Formats: sequence, structure tokens, C-alpha cells
Amino acid sequence: MRDLFDRIYKNKGPLGMWASQAEGYFVFPKLEGPISNRMIFKGKEVITWSINDYLGLANLQEIREVDAKAAIDYGAAYPMGARMMSGHTELHEKLEKELASFVNKESSYLLNFGYQGILSTIDTLVGKNDVIVYDVDSHACIVDGVRLHIGKRFTYRHNDILSLEKNLLRANKIVEQTGGGVLVISEGVFGMRGEQGCLKQICALKKKYNFRFLLDDAHGFGTLGKNGAGTGFEQGVQKDIDVYFATFAKSMASTGAFIAAEKEIIDYLKYNMRSQIFAKSLQMQLVAGILKRLNILKNKPELKDKLWNNVLRLQNGLKEKGFNIGNTQSCVTPVYLEGSIPEAMGLVKDLRENYGVFCSIVVYPVIPKGLILLRLIPTASHTLKDINETLDAFSEIREKLNQGVYKLESTVKEKKF
Ligand SMILES: Cc1ncc(COP(=O)(O)O)c(C=O)c1O
Repeated sequence: MRDLFDRIYKNKGPLGMWASQAEGYFVFPKLEGPISNRMIFKGKEVITWSINDYLGLANLQEIREVDAKAAIDYGAAYPMGARMMSGHTELHEKLEKELASFVNKESSYLLNFGYQGILSTIDTLVGKNDVIVYDVDSHACIVDGVRLHIGKRFTYRHNDILSLEKNLLRANKIVEQTGGGVLVISEGVFGMRGEQGCLKQICALKKKYNFRFLLDDAHGFGTLGKNGAGTGFEQGVQKDIDVYFATFAKSMASTGAFIAAEKEIIDYLKYNMRSQIFAKSLQMQLVAGILKRLNILKNKPELKDKLWNNVLRLQNGLKEKGFNIGNTQSCVTPVYLEGSIPEAMGLVKDLRENYGVFCSIVVYPVIPKGLILLRLIPTASHTLKDINETLDAFSEIREKLNQGVYKLESTVKEKKF
């Protein structure tokens, strides 16, 4: 018999295999001091393009004050139990009412984390006779939620409506036999490539097929639609989204998430969702801070305008310089280059050390072999100077990549980060 740990000692996994060369720099970089449009990395100031704070709320004085007061009033402990037992307060209820009204749904429910929240939502919405049909490029939390499902599940090709329709037909045939229903899942904005989900076309299929639609709008909430109420509003189909999900970890610069739907569905989820029944309720400190953030979202549209000015300046600047930024329709700004993983490492190190530009890299197995994806997340806190310096830096590193500079460097300097 083999020791359970043998496999782990031998094989560190597709990302873990790079740990000895990447940890502390490319992955798990250690950040220091204040984090905004600029931050300190390895003792030097860098322009930051990989922080989830679209509207720049994280460092707003009025938000800091509410967060600080909430910390004094409640500490990190309150409430001290699961929502159902001893974790329910007036403030939780108030936030849920405001969120439901903001996204135009009857009711909403708070989730203590986005990842486990949506996983658990999927688990709770479907039973063994039901079929799930979901976009193949879905975020890991959707994939893992679907993994819990013991009935049939089908993926459709990314944003491909013909493929969705084909799979809806398959799903319908199955539920005719089992007596179950169909759940379709998409993201509002796909976080790696920045494309919006084809919500309009998905919702139009409701006229032909019987299904319910769950939307994960992690990147759309706060950035798209009127006042940032999300991708459903952006595409004019919010009423056709049966269960709406968004996290507080992106635009809201906080932690936690919520789901919104018709009251009877939310009531069912409240009483059946294992991630909320068997885990501590969202902290008061966070609830108070999120109420303030929501208020700012509603009353300070200038923050979203500033964000979009920056997004367009950055994306148009990149396009003018001939960079391939794919088909982004959101703030997420991918820059695709061609090169190996060691080249990607050399290039990103150069960007950080010599140009003061900090962005994340995404490589195989997340994207196809031979491609390097530099992912930039513009925020309302970025300045024109940040954008111009970044555009200049990108032009120079592309030149070096084409000349093979990072190829030479990476063979010499491998493991010396
Ligand atoms: C599409 C999507 N859904 C859900 C989540 C998880 O949210 P949280 O960070 O609140 O757990 C993320 C976070 O990266 C995401 O991008």
C-alpha cells in the first residue's frame, strides 16, 4: 500500500511545480504598506494593476471612518454564531433589503464568502433529477459548485449560444425522464478575459426552453449598469435573471457576498444552504462597512465614471500601440503576448524592477501553452501618469520580448528571483 503523501511529495501540481522559482515574487508576493494605485514592493514604489478595488473605495476616508467605527462598536467577533442560530441582526436585515432593492429583486441573503457562497447556492438549488448547463470558462467556484451536483451537468462552449442551445436540448430530454428542472449558469463578466456573458441571448432562450438562470456577477457588480447595479442592467435583462449573485470582494473592496431572487427562493436558500447554516454569519464590522459602500455606490456615480475613464484610456492606449487585448467588454484588461513561462517570468520581473509596473501574469495551464497573459485591473484611483507610464513600459518590454532578451535571461538566471 502506498503512503497517501507519496503522490504529493512527488507531484506538486500544475502551479505548485513552479513554487521554488516563483514563490514570494510571482506568486504570494509580499506587499508592504498602503495599497492603492501605487504600493511598495520589495522596497520600491510600483504602479499596481492587480488589486480588486474597482471604484477605489478601499482608501476613501469616509469609508475608512465607518470601518474603524464599526471595528470599535463590534470588534471582529460580532455576531458569534451562524445566521440561523445566533448571528442575525437588524443590520444584516437592513443591508439585505437595500441590496435587493438595488438589484431590483424581491429579496436577498448575505453570504460570508463569495466562493463558498455560490458553491453552496448551486448545491442548494438543484437536486439529483435536475440538470446544470454552464459556460465552460466558468470560475472555479462555479465548477466546484457543479461538482457537488449528483445529477447530470453539461458545459457549453464559452459564450456560444448554439452550443448552449444544443445542451439545453440534451438537458430537456433528460428532465423529461427524471421530472427535474434545468439550471443555466453564466458569469456577468468573465474575470480572466473580461468578456461579458451573453446574457441577452441566454435570456432570449427562455422563450423556447424551460430553465432558471443563475448569474455570477462578481466583476459586473459596481462596474456595469446604472449606478453599478450589474451586467443584468447593462444588457437590459435583470428581470430575467432568476438568481443574481455578486461578491463584495471586488468593487466593494470588502469581504462577503450576496444572492438576490424572488422571496420564496431566498427563503428556501436561507433554510437549506449548508454554507450559511453551518458557518458563522457575516461579521457586523463588514455589514456596517458594506452598507456605507452601497450608499456610496448609489450616491457617487462619479467614481464609476472615473473608473471607466481610466479603463478606456488604458484599453485604447494599448490598442493604439498594437497590443492584443482580446475581446474585453469590461474593466478587466488582458494583454496577450507570446512566449514561454520562463520568458513570462523574466518579462514580469523586468516590468516590476526596472519600470515600476506591477501586474499579475497568467500562464499555462490557466491559458493555452505559449501564451502569456498580463492581466490589468484599472481602478478609479489610477492617474493619467500611471496609465502613460504603463503604456510606455509595455511598449519597451514587448520590444525586448520580440528580440529574445527574456529567453537569454531566463536560461542564465533561472531560479534567481
Ligand atoms: C466570478 C467569481 N465568482 C466568485 C468569486 C469569489 O468571490 P470571493 O472572493 O468573495 O470568495 C470570484 C473571485 O475571484 C470570482 O471572480
